[in-house]
Amino acid sequence: MQGKQTDGDSTIYVRVAGTVEDTVAFAEELARLAGPGSVLALDGDLGAGKTRFAQAFAAAIGVKGIVNSPTYTIIKEYEGDKLPFYHMDVYRLSLEEADELGLDEYFHGQGVTLVEWASLIEPILPPERLHIRLETTGAESRRIYCRPVGSEYAGWCERLKLDKSDGEGESTT
Ligand SMILES: Nc1ncnc2c1ncn2[C@@H]1O[C@H](COP(=O)(O)OP(=O)(O)OP(=O)(O)O)[C@@H](O)[C@H]1O
Ligand SMILES: [Mg+2]
Repeated sequence: MQGKQTDGDSTIYVRVAGTVEDTVAFAEELARLAGPGSVLALDGDLGAGKTRFAQAFAAAIGVKGIVNSPTYTIIKEYEGDKLPFYHMDVYRLSLEEADELGLDEYFHGQGVTLVEWASLIEPILPPERLHIRLETTGAESRRIYCRPVGSEYAGWCERLKLDKSDGEGESTT
């Protein structure tokens, strides 16, 4: 079990991004695995790169045009060539408000959902999802922690050949 940290029943994986381009490349790798109903639950400090990651992910599934932060609109829907893309930012929502918005329809829809600040609504996230936490480690460097919940997302992490986190006390949420 050396080199492996568990959080509940799931292993935490890590990918180091030295530059923005590395973050973009990682989003592209994930986009190749995504399908209808995929849910990516993003967290990370202000400016860590959640929206930048979302933009790269959206471009990789064929969304044309500009993907902005939906901080004020909460949710934006885009048509991608490969899949619809549902982009949420729940920073300003209470759990009750999020519940009333009926986000479930998106989680179980035909597209892929990416939620910024997902840990704020963890109780209403679907039972299977991939948590991704961006940690700022320098001007352009990030540690990207992935915590799969459910066997499908655990499979993604294995296929992406992510390193298992050595677990210096980090949490993905
Ligand atoms: N390795 C990196 N990965 C992602 N973004 C990076 C990286 N290095 C620098 N950046 C820059 O950091 C900024 C991240 O801003 P972004 O809006 O994506 O953050 P955010 O996590 O969505 O913040 P907020 O919580 O305010 O919504 C961008 O300007 C991006 O170009
Ligand atoms: Mg953002």
